[in-house]
Order: sequence, then C-alpha cells, then structure tokens
Amino acid sequence: MNLYEAIFARKSVRKYSMDKIDQKVLDHIANFAESIPMLSDDIKVKYKMVELAGLKRLQPGILTVKAPHYLVLYSTRESDYQLNAGYVMEQIALYITARGLGCCYIANLNLKNETVAEDYEQVITLAFGEAENEVYRQNEKARRLAIKDIAVFKEEVDKNVRTMISAARLSPSVLNSQPWRMVVYNNRIHLFSTRNILMKNVMKETRLIDMGICLSHLLIAAEEMWLDARPVYMNNISSQNLKKNDYIISVKMS
Ligand SMILES: Cc1cc2nc3c(=O)[nH]c(=O)nc-3n(C[C@H](O)[C@H](O)[C@H](O)COP(=O)(O)O)c2cc1C
Repeated sequence: MNLYEAIFARKSVRKYSMDKIDQKVLDHIANFAESIPMLSDDIKVKYKMVELAGLKRLQPGILTVKAPHYLVLYSTRESDYQLNAGYVMEQIALYITARGLGCCYIANLNLKNETVAEDYEQVITLAFGEAENEVYRQNEKARRLAIKDIAVFKEEVDKNVRTMISAARLSPSVLNSQPWRMVVYNNRIHLFSTRNILMKNVMKETRLIDMGICLSHLLIAAEEMWLDARPVYMNNISSQNLKKNDYIISVKMS
C-alpha cells in the first residue's frame, strides 16, 4: 500500500494493543518524517516520539486515545505553520497506515516534558500502534459531506482532477468538521475554509491543521496521477471579500 491508497483505506484507530512497536519500525517512521519537505523553507519542525509514561496524565474522556506511542510535532511559528503541520503530519499518518499500523490525531496532549526547544510550539500529536481491531475501512463507510457540498466545478475537469477532489473529501478533521471548500478549474483548485462564527477561537487554529491535511491529500493524489501540482498563494483571491469562507491556498496543475 502506498500513501495514495492509504487515503482511501484509512480511519481513526482508537483502540490499540499496548505492545510496543519494533524499534526498527519506529526508526523508519522517524526517518520518513524527517524526509518530508515543509510547505515553506521558513518553517522548522521537530518531532518527538513519546510513550505512555511520558504523558502527564491521560484525561478520561472521548477525546483521549490510549496508545503505546505518540508522535508529537513541534513547529516554529512562521506564517502558515499550522497549515504546514497538518500537511506534514498527514503524510506521516498515511505512511503509518500504509505500514499496517493504526493512528489517530490527538488535538491536545499533556506531556511531562513540554518543550523540545525554545521558539517551538507543540502543534499536533498522532497516537499510533498496532490496532486492536481492523485497521482499514472501506472509503464508502467514511462519514463525509458529498462532493457537491464541498466543491464547485467552474468548468469541465479531467477524471484526474475529480480523483484529487475525492481524495481531499476523505481527509480527517477535528470533530469531523470538514471545513474545506474548493473552487475547481481544470488547471487549479482554490482551497477555502468555512468560518464558524460560534466556535471562532476554538476552531480557528485547528481548522488550519485540517486544511493542511486536505492539501496533502490533494497533492498526494496529484502525484499518483502523474500531475505536476504545486501549492501557490494567490493574492488576487485572498483580497476578495468572501463572506462565509477564508481563502487558504491554491493548487496549480501544469
Ligand atoms: C487535527 C485533528 C485533531 C483530532 N483530535 C482528536 C482527538 O483529540 N481525539 C480523537 O479521538 N480524535 C481526534 N481526531 C480524529 C477525528 O475525530 C476524525 O478524524 C474524524 O472524526 C473523522 O473520522 P475518521 O478519521 O475515522 O475518518 C482529530 C482529527 C484531527 C484532524
């Protein structure tokens, strides 16, 4: 299984065998993580592998996932660092999935030793390990909005572009909020995120992580289709006055 196939097979795994994973596999995951390029050269990230004992305490509740390992992503706070964090972490999540292991994002995890280095912020954590039950899911079973509710097609587009949108649709998000909206042309996709007025502050930061995850699905699918696609920020779009959505980034195909 490759990363693209993992997009269509993944699900959040919340029950794990507490056996530790082989050190060799942990090294592969760490090496893969280190090999991922950032969205922008200005942003620096560090990773930390933590075991259960490294947590302050595991708060009981639905948002806590008990797993043998956690991968914590720390980042410097340059512009778009949360978008980058989601973009990077999702590639790691798909790598872990492709290797037959389960994983689940954790929005907030209390660590005993909080920082890795000055100027770095803990952004997002991935719990992972050997899944207690089935690690894969048929993509039709994923609870997601319909394509027509998340994408507007401005012209007739190729099958490959449609595949990119299908991959984006399956992205995981905080509380399955699915904030991505897309305006689609045959050679470009503009990505927007919905604005939730009620939960403005709570959701604002995690929304960008979600958008980064969505961006990674778009680009992984493009690569699989042999499309030359790259993320670009278009100033003419960002300056438009959009009522319900925020412009995030575009993907340009050539
Ligand atoms: C940034 C982020 C944070 C998340 N935080 C948690 C969490 O703290 N606890 C949890 O159980 N699930 C968490 N999730 C998983 C989502 O609830 C899950 O992705 C969503 O419900 C869709 O389900 P699926 O991943 O099985 O497709 C998080 C997902 C994302 C993307």
